[in-house]
Amino acid sequence: MIKMIKRLGDYLKADTQNSSLIILADERPKFVYFGKRIGDSDDYGFSGIKSPRGFSSADDVDNSPCLVSSSGDGHSRENMIRVVTSDGSAVLRLRLEDVSILDGKPAIDGMPSSYEAKECVVFKYYDAASSVALEQYFAVFDDSDVIATSVRLINRGKEDVKIKRLFSLQLDLPDGDYEMLTLEGASCRERIPKIKTLNGGTYLNASYSGLSSNSSNPFVALTKKGPNGFCVESNLVYSGNHKETVECGNLGGVRLLSGINDYLLDYTVKAGESFCAPEAIFTVADDIDGASRAMRDFVDKHIISERMRRRERPIVVNTWETFLFDFDEKKLSALCDKAAELGIEMFILDDGWFGKRNDDSSSLGDWYENVGKLGCSLKEFGDKIRAKGLGFGIWVEPEMISADSDLFRTHPEFAMTIDGVKPMEIRRQLCLDTTKREVRDYIVDAISCVISKSGADYVKWDCNRSVQELKNSGSLFHSFTLGLYDMLKRITDRFPDLIIESCASGGNRFDLGMLCFTPQIWTSDNVDPRYRTAIQEGTLYAYPQISMGTHVGHIPDWHTFNGTSYDNAFSVAALGSFGYEFNLTELSDKDTEIVREQIAFYKKWRGVLQFGTLTVNERVAERGISCYTVADEKCEKAVATVIVTQSVFNRDYPKIYIKGLNADYIYKVGFRQQTEVDGKTTFTASGDALACVGVSLGDMFSEGAVGKNYNSIQTRMMTFEKI
Ligand code: GLA
Repeated sequence: MIKMIKRLGDYLKADTQNSSLIILADERPKFVYFGKRIGDSDDYGFSGIKSPRGFSSADDVDNSPCLVSSSGDGHSRENMIRVVTSDGSAVLRLRLEDVSILDGKPAIDGMPSSYEAKECVVFKYYDAASSVALEQYFAVFDDSDVIATSVRLINRGKEDVKIKRLFSLQLDLPDGDYEMLTLEGASCRERIPKIKTLNGGTYLNASYSGLSSNSSNPFVALTKKGPNGFCVESNLVYSGNHKETVECGNLGGVRLLSGINDYLLDYTVKAGESFCAPEAIFTVADDIDGASRAMRDFVDKHIISERMRRRERPIVVNTWETFLFDFDEKKLSALCDKAAELGIEMFILDDGWFGKRNDDSSSLGDWYENVGKLGCSLKEFGDKIRAKGLGFGIWVEPEMISADSDLFRTHPEFAMTIDGVKPMEIRRQLCLDTTKREVRDYIVDAISCVISKSGADYVKWDCNRSVQELKNSGSLFHSFTLGLYDMLKRITDRFPDLIIESCASGGNRFDLGMLCFTPQIWTSDNVDPRYRTAIQEGTLYAYPQISMGTHVGHIPDWHTFNGTSYDNAFSVAALGSFGYEFNLTELSDKDTEIVREQIAFYKKWRGVLQFGTLTVNERVAERGISCYTVADEKCEKAVATVIVTQSVFNRDYPKIYIKGLNADYIYKVGFRQQTEVDGKTTFTASGDALACVGVSLGDMFSEGAVGKNYNSIQTRMMTFEKI
């Protein structure tokens, strides 16, 4: 069997499908190379790696690109590890003790991580003065270009040590001109790509709320421009506070660090115990599109759990933007009938079905049905939905409690509060103290009971506030995240076929940790197709389309008040785990037929739309046009979506260059029928002609269609079938 990780003299070489990582295994192991896949050599000494690199000041020692760095070890810059021993010393001088290569890779205590690794290399370090040891893993996968890394710190001494920082990844990249892309935003504008040209100094990407956050996603892309350019991307398998620093070294080069945020971190590791940092993943490619393709593919194959991998997702209707809290048996029943008649496959009962919850002021924690609103028990309600041919899904917010709830009245100690401090309510709710085992037991039992009683096939797991009651502050944020993973693990083990869509006020916790348990995530509460185009484009830099919950919502949109056609809304929502979220019973006859046709189209092309390999033809940030192709494995079937967000007058029609097809195949090209568009319908073309000659937008949109669309968004979906 061909080994992916080899020893070559003093070096370790890990090959992925298209990249090589070379490490010098001396007493302070160093990165020699990370880039395009290359052949083997016995010695890479010619790279200069064996000569100590530069001195940034008289006080610094070797600044070579080490795999780890720590305080008090000669590097006066941002470093990866900070540990304080019982005598107050922050000196940690880790030196290599041993290197080994293993088949597969070990699990990480209490945390989710990628699976089906082929091999991993383990570097074991030790610092005799502090008795601190460190294990560092780099794992490769035989069908991917992504490398997974993690570290475990072990206290081999007799006294406690305190972790003040333990990042998961340190990557020192060579000198050059870099551009950094991060995914930033807020509620309703999550993961908007932000590009910064690195120009000295240190750049920060971090969250502080207890969640991975909508303000800064843990994903980072670093593109080195010019000759010998490349793009390195990293992400973290973690759902709590994270921190990435990108530091332009004063000697040149760029250092990327990524891991748990050290904000307030002060974690005690007792004698003989250890602490695991979450897994980080990273990849390299010629450009950002190549690196992002590798990331999406990896998430699809090695992060989304095996039991949910490539599992087709149903078309849903969700009651939130349909009724908010204002529903009764009659309204729900009418919506369900209409959904069944249209061919929708699952009915999701969102917030408002439990306790006495008619607004957001009460009942979180009281996970039993409001019979008055449902008209029957939860079990009967689930049965009724199934009798109409639909699957049943239900909304819960397990980590939270309302002060006005039976749970709070009976167990006030379950809430995360601090004696003598008035609890801070956010969205009129408190966090449960999920760092306590008895609280998690209660939640797991209560949520399991909801799932069993209702026979739910799907759960929307929401989380609508940040963590602010900072007791046990040194460990609180991390323990809150571990508590979440413990509950998700227990529930997914108990209900292996359950689809969980996680959500956090929209996409406030869209990360790889969640994706290990919940194969899809509600992307954003903003479903305005114009804005969603940017949100989804940002998300797709790091995550595959199947992970995104994408719905056609109310028109005009409830958040932005923009209006458009149902067809345009569909084109944007069709790329993902799709559904509807507005009152379908109020559709006109004409719009009913439009929606019926959309559902039939989605079902026909579902495999490609949900799991097809995605190629970016153009991004909206460039000239107001977004265009993606998704193609099946053999490139025999594909769909391309074109979204134009800016009408331009008095100019030649722009052309769209459709990539991601097989250059040598001849395709029958079709356009999805859209009522307001009377452009071209079908033609035949080769894959290379579509990519090189391009397709004129002039043939796609008639002038009339432009006039009828508010806010000048126009869309078309093209289909490709190999002849
Ligand atoms: C959050 C979610 C919404 C909806 C509401 C219900 O805001 O993002 O989609 O589920 O909660 O309260």
